[in-house]
Amino acid sequence: MCGIVGAVGTDDVARAVFEGLERLEYRGYDSAGLALCVEEASGATLEVMKAASAGTSLSELKDRIGTSERRRVRAGIGHTRWATHGAPVLVNAHPHTDCSGRVAIVHNGIIENFRTLRSALVEAGHRFRSETDSEVIAHLLEDALRGAPPDVALASVFAQLSGHMAVVALLADHPDLILAVRRTSPLMAARGRGIEFVASDVPAVLHRATQFFEVPEDEVVVIGGGSADMVAARGLDDLPSPAIDWRSQDVELGGFASFYEMELAFGAEALAQTITSLVDEHGGALMDELALDPYELKRIRKVVVVGAGTSFHAGLVGRFAIEHFARVPVEVDVASEYRYRDPIVDEGTLVIAVSQSGESLDTIVALREAQAAGARAISVTNVVGSQLARIADGVLYTRAGPEVSVASTKTHLAQIAALHLLGLWLGELRGVLFPDEASQRRRELTEVVGAVASVIDARGAIAAALEPLTVRERFFFIGRHVALPVAMEGALKLKELSYLPAEAYAAGELKHGPIAMLDSDAVVIALIPQDRLRAKALGNLEEVKARGAHVVAVCAGEPGRVAELADTVIEVPAVSPLLFPLVGVVPLQVLAGSVATARGLNLDRPRNLAKTVTVE
Ligand code: F6R
Repeated sequence: MCGIVGAVGTDDVARAVFEGLERLEYRGYDSAGLALCVEEASGATLEVMKAASAGTSLSELKDRIGTSERRRVRAGIGHTRWATHGAPVLVNAHPHTDCSGRVAIVHNGIIENFRTLRSALVEAGHRFRSETDSEVIAHLLEDALRGAPPDVALASVFAQLSGHMAVVALLADHPDLILAVRRTSPLMAARGRGIEFVASDVPAVLHRATQFFEVPEDEVVVIGGGSADMVAARGLDDLPSPAIDWRSQDVELGGFASFYEMELAFGAEALAQTITSLVDEHGGALMDELALDPYELKRIRKVVVVGAGTSFHAGLVGRFAIEHFARVPVEVDVASEYRYRDPIVDEGTLVIAVSQSGESLDTIVALREAQAAGARAISVTNVVGSQLARIADGVLYTRAGPEVSVASTKTHLAQIAALHLLGLWLGELRGVLFPDEASQRRRELTEVVGAVASVIDARGAIAAALEPLTVRERFFFIGRHVALPVAMEGALKLKELSYLPAEAYAAGELKHGPIAMLDSDAVVIALIPQDRLRAKALGNLEEVKARGAHVVAVCAGEPGRVAELADTVIEVPAVSPLLFPLVGVVPLQVLAGSVATARGLNLDRPRNLAKTVTVE
């Protein structure tokens, strides 16, 4: 969850590390800090700067870094923190140093055995300054460096740490390098003109890097690095180099007030790019990247989709398409729960892990668990070279461009499209769909992009229509069939951005209990596709109206009687029912942003959240 960046080179390293931190703020805003290796006539020293003031950490660091820039700095590391062990206060901010102040580390993840390690280090005379689990790494490294070259020392320290994590170390005695190592947690390396980087996320260095590298698991990688006698470390040129085609302007706020609003506005583009990469001009499937044997997929007897949060909701939408087109049973599970229910998995199971980042630890662990039990695995992810892309047997990329906003918007649309197309392809492979029909369905999906764009373009009018809701405090979202996951996604967006109670229910389930909560203070938002269930949806509207709730309908096509029952109707284009989630979710994304903005909240810094959950 924390953000990590490090840089080594002849370019302005201090500035590069700071820029990386600015771009990694979405990873955690409890604190920020950096360490620079400053070379002076008397030798190199480490200069550590930290700030932990809500909302202003980075500007505080910016002022302080200004003075360091004029000095000779060839290597530096930085960190934005999402607190796990130890309160979000200055003393717990990274980087952490050893007793001598000549070793600095930044860390993301949890060290499960840190208490034992810390006790032993304290007994041996080490002085700790923070409450974090991370600080043990600096002290262990201090000891290990006495008898080994830096890479061997870090490798031996890392071998003592239990859990999933990434570590980057800066050493005053080796001012022209930094060392990096990871287990499951994300870390990539990159190279720009006169500079090499390591970072937890591509956007941190996208504006400066020209080449990217995958950091392998459990192997120390040296960034920069001429002077040290490396024994075991790999340099960048030894690493796989995936092609990353993201544009640096996609991680800059081009006139938008927030990344949330910017990415919402680019939803149709994300959808179009994803579809274009997976459908040819004749409506045929482009599934080469999947690199899985079609004959193997043909024999699949069960599909399991795993994901978290918004990605889980995309999986719930995808289930309808896969079952409908491929006639294969689909289970959808919250990734963090999947492994604990002792799932029934065999060689006839296809597991699909859906994850924007490709780095959510729960989803990675779920996929690995299923693979170990014999399942074939596909990941649907937005990040080339991410962990899920690497460990799955096949990968289907969403092409939504970088997503910076903590609350997902555009990638959700791209995920739904990717799963829809996967369902069509499986349907064809399994002989359930004729190729012509599958192509027709793909063209239909392509045409929906325009419908989605029209809803996104109308977001100002939608926000105005929903403005009366911004003073409300209790929200219920209801839907049936494919509209239920849309309701769930709407409730999640509202909760995470505005912190208000928002619940989603299957519309038919409401009267089995939850309807007791409805009164005139409650807002009920009903998702209504144009499908065979319209009459049932009308029945549900009658029920909630009768309890005095304020009713909003997001309705596909001609509202008819819906308009008589709802206080507000947001009309979205009448698309084929399975594609309703693509047009139906946009007004809910708009609503969440409007309510949070009206409450004075920062859309890009939702409380307690960080992008990419890399702890279990
Ligand atoms: C919600 C949100 C989260 C993520 C979830 C999974 O707006 O962003 O719920 O969807 O943490 O993240 P990925 O998709 O990166 O695995």
